[in-house]
Amino acid sequence: MPGLVIVGAQWGDEGKGKVVDLLAERADAVIRFQGGNNAGHTIVRGDEVFKFHLVPSGILYPGRPCVVGNGVVVDPRVLTDEIDGLRKRNIDLSGLRISANAHLIMPYHLLLDQAGEARLGKREIGTTKRGIGPCYADKAARLGIRVQDVLDEKILKQKITAAIEPKRQALRDYAKDPLLDLHTMTEDYLAFGHRLAPYIADTPPIAWRALDEGKLVVFEGAQGTLLDIDHGTYPFVTSSNPVAGSACVGAGVGPKSIDEVWGVAKAYSTRVGAGPFPTELHDAVGERIQRAGGEFGTTTGRPRRCGWIDLVALRYAVRVNGLTGLVITKLDVLTGIEPLRAAVRYTGPEGASFDDFPYHQSVLHRARGDYEELPGWEEDVTGARTLADLPANARALLELIEQRLDTPVVMVGVGPGRDQMIWTDAAESVRSRARVA
Ligand code: GDP
Ligand code: IMO
Ligand code: MG
Repeated sequence: MPGLVIVGAQWGDEGKGKVVDLLAERADAVIRFQGGNNAGHTIVRGDEVFKFHLVPSGILYPGRPCVVGNGVVVDPRVLTDEIDGLRKRNIDLSGLRISANAHLIMPYHLLLDQAGEARLGKREIGTTKRGIGPCYADKAARLGIRVQDVLDEKILKQKITAAIEPKRQALRDYAKDPLLDLHTMTEDYLAFGHRLAPYIADTPPIAWRALDEGKLVVFEGAQGTLLDIDHGTYPFVTSSNPVAGSACVGAGVGPKSIDEVWGVAKAYSTRVGAGPFPTELHDAVGERIQRAGGEFGTTTGRPRRCGWIDLVALRYAVRVNGLTGLVITKLDVLTGIEPLRAAVRYTGPEGASFDDFPYHQSVLHRARGDYEELPGWEEDVTGARTLADLPANARALLELIEQRLDTPVVMVGVGPGRDQMIWTDAAESVRSRARVA
């Protein structure tokens, strides 16, 4: 105790990386539990910007145990590049551990992801084309290659042979692609195995030990609740479970190990890729948010769709994650926008009104936000360090969020820098409950 789960409460890119980095200072371990290098987590430290795709966001604290959990899908090419990049920047990687049970993204997963999107044409999901979906599909089909397999040439070859066979049809256009050559693939992956071997471990005991000793363990989610394969806007979702329940499965701990679940949400909404987005803006305000918030994907560079904060979707996120706290980020981006809006209900087809997040896809695709309007503020909030430093209208927005979601706001982001965060007493108390690692 305490185990603290950090999840995205919207469609990803809420600022989870920054929050995990801040909490990691007092944590004994940080564990990524799902997703892969579809994630892009940004941490700004002074003039330096770090973008992590696979390495957990606690790695900037020298020696901090940082685990890539069994629930993550690992592209070893990306992970070794990330390791090399961090080494060049003199980051101590001695705490990095990679679960031997995590699944590997293989070259054919990348090709299948591309081919799948091409086949869908205009109906594409807008995936990151990193092979995430096909890798999780192979995991479920029991055709996955796991991290431990790259430590044994014979097993690796057997497993790749078995995995490729059923894909021949789907990949016939790529039949001559050198990436698909069994020999080359085996050699490449053995080489990755060699490079990653010092980090490969049986990882759940790292969490068990820290939790037994009463230290703070931060479980780092990727993507966001509405991209969850079960609870999100299917099929416009990712292929894993970014919700809090998945922290247990993806790290190897039981539900009783989780004390707190904090959802990270922007003071507005964004989404990358296709799919329903009831509060999306197609006007100058949306463009302004995109510009002021730098809303371009960390992983793919695609512009993020922008809209108002959606309290209907967030209320749903509170329930499916069991959120005990909310971290509201990017409040500074709303400065100068007049008036502000927050969706408190949806209007669906034929004028029907929805207080709760609709389960039905054809309703959700046509749902539009009904807004409560709030006065904005002109004051610069980037220097605020306590709630009292904020303009009254900014506090009123936070109060509306707390009241509508019946969940306390525990931290508030007012800029990308690590010091640009308001810590409430509730957040401080979790931080101080942790024994210093
Ligand atoms: P993640 O995927 O949830 O970790 O989020 P990303 O890193 O993809 O996107 C969040 C972006 O917002 C990053 O560029 C952060 O540096 C930046 N950011 C985080 N918190 C704040 C904040 O409070 N204000 C501003 N202006 N930027 C922030
Ligand atoms: P972080 O962790 C935002 C989106 C993609 C696409 C859908 C499926 O940085 O918040 P995938 O490649 O996962 O099969 O794509 O999910 N997506 C994200 N959007 N942030 C992310 O991660 C995302 N990871 C995937 O844009 O719509
Ligand atoms: Mg991101």
